Amino acid sequence: MSSLPQLDTKIHTLTFTGPVMNSACPWASDDKDLAALYDSPYTGGVTTRTATAEGFKEDPALHQHAFTSLASLNSYGYSPYPLAHYLTWVRSLLEPSSSPKPIIISITSPIPSELEMMVAAIQSLRKEIGDTSSKTSHVGIELNTSCPNIPSKPPPSYDPPALLPLLHILNKAVREDPTLTVGLKLPPYVIPSQFTGVLEAIESLQGAGDAINPISFLTCTNTLGGCIFGADEAGKEGVEGEGWALPGGYGGMAGSALHAVSLGNVHRFATLLANHPSPAMQKIAIIGVGGVSDAAGVKRMQKAGATIVECATALGRYGVGIFEKMQI
Ligand SMILES: Cc1cc2nc3c(=O)[nH]c(=O)nc-3n(C[C@H](O)[C@H](O)[C@H](O)COP(=O)(O)O)c2cc1C
Repeated sequence: MSSLPQLDTKIHTLTFTGPVMNSACPWASDDKDLAALYDSPYTGGVTTRTATAEGFKEDPALHQHAFTSLASLNSYGYSPYPLAHYLTWVRSLLEPSSSPKPIIISITSPIPSELEMMVAAIQSLRKEIGDTSSKTSHVGIELNTSCPNIPSKPPPSYDPPALLPLLHILNKAVREDPTLTVGLKLPPYVIPSQFTGVLEAIESLQGAGDAINPISFLTCTNTLGGCIFGADEAGKEGVEGEGWALPGGYGGMAGSALHAVSLGNVHRFATLLANHPSPAMQKIAIIGVGGVSDAAGVKRMQKAGATIVECATALGRYGVGIFEKMQI
């Protein structure tokens, strides 16, 4: 049996009970998934699948995943369950618990007014459970800005001017309630200007003399969009004779094949932030995710600069037991 983590790890008001947890994914979708993740002694926190205000209309003919030996590929959108379901489930997990283990609710909306309502709903829950009057919070928010699979809605994190109106909503919420911990789920970036572009947008939220930035963490990375596997690689028969693993071919790739990209993103952000002239920017933490499935991967992510390390593909492939194998 691996040893359990000894140290709590903090990001702003969230106290993780260990450095390893799940990222937003279909294996953190419903109340049973979330309970299994929350109850595991090997998870330092839990992230929900990304919720929208009304729920995402899932079509099993279009929205699928596949595994190969080195990767996962998926064409999912967001959770079919609306935010309201997650608020109920999170409340019932947290109410009987005395653990500081946090739950990060992943949300998304392309519409600032809708995002504002979603944040307000999460804030009502946080108020009810005492988060807004305590130094330690049990609920944080991750804004998913990087799903590559929605044809009509390109990820705003590849386009900082499109991201800014959403960031302004988060900024307002944190200024109204500084106990709120908010992070951004970012995509895999590949050229330096993409990294500096998003950091400039985040820095623009700060006022002169602010000790902290309203964004407390960056989760790097989401899947790499626009990838194709042959059905044979994924042990599938192929969709409608196309010979690809997913309907229409394209999907977001993750797992071992993404690891080097995610590691590079974590390292580059950690370096840029550590050397940033603004002390508030220096305090932004990185959550590393992409191709981690064992303790060696966790250590690489930490070496690159991650405070917390997450996984999705390994959870989908091996189940909640994977977190024991990821203990360092
Ligand atoms: C099937 C699947 C569905 C995913 N759904 C979401 C999601 O709803 N929201 C999100 O932020 N990331 C989502 N992701 C991305 C993961 O959280 C993670 O960032 C990415 O898969 C890289 O980690 P991994 O290599 O451990 O899978 C999904 C990943 C997979 C494999």
